[in-house]
Amino acid sequence: MSLTILGIAGSLRAKSYNRALLRAAHELKPPGMEIQDAEIGAIPLYDADLEAAGVPEPVATLKAAIRASDGLLFATPEYNYGVPGVLKNAIDWASRAAPGEKGCLAGKAAGIIGASPGPSGTARGQAQLRQAFIFTQTYALQAPEFTLARCADKFDAELRLVDDSSREFLRKYLVRLGDWAERLRGMA
Ligand code: FNR
Repeated sequence: MSLTILGIAGSLRAKSYNRALLRAAHELKPPGMEIQDAEIGAIPLYDADLEAAGVPEPVATLKAAIRASDGLLFATPEYNYGVPGVLKNAIDWASRAAPGEKGCLAGKAAGIIGASPGPSGTARGQAQLRQAFIFTQTYALQAPEFTLARCADKFDAELRLVDDSSREFLRKYLVRLGDWAERLRGMA
C-alpha cells in the first residue's frame, strides 16, 4: 500500500482535541500510508462574487491538495449538533467546479472521525458531513464509525491520545480507511 491521505481538522484552535486526534492518526497510521495536513483557517467565507473574481489562494491550495490525495480524513468537532462552520465553509469552496469539470471531492474516499468532551462523540456532526458528501459525491467510509466521546479523559495534558482502546480503534480505523481508499483509486 502506498497512499497519501489529506487530514482536515474542523477546528482552528491550537489546543483542539480534533487536531490532536489527527496527530494521533499520524502516529497510528498503517505502513505505506502518509498523512498530510490541510489548513483551512485562512479560507474566507464563501462568496460567489469573490469566487468570480478569482479563487482565493488558500482555496486553490486546498483543492490542489485534495486532488493530489488518494483519500481524505476529516477530524471534526460537533457544534450545535452539526458540522462547524469553518469546515462546512471549506467543503463548500472545495465542492465548486467549473461547468463540465469534475469537482475535486467527487469520487474521493473519505474517513470521518471526531472527538467531543460530551457523550455523543460528534455523531450528529459526522452525520451532517455524510449528508454533504452525497452532493459532492465523496465516498465516506460507512463503517466503522469513529466517535471519541468524553475525550477529555482520553488525552493527556500534552494532548496525546493515551486511552489504549481508543488508540487501538483508531489504528484499525486507519487500516479500513486505507483499504477503502485503495478500492476507490481511480474513481476521482
Ligand atoms: C460545542 N460543543 C459541542 N459538543 C458536542 O458534543 N455537541 C455539540 O453540539 C456541541 N456544540 C458546540 C457548539 C459550539 C459553538 C462550541 C464552541 C462547542 C463542545 C465541543 O465539542 C468542544 O468545544 C470541543 O472541544 C470542540 O472541538 P475541538 O476544538 O477541541 O477540536
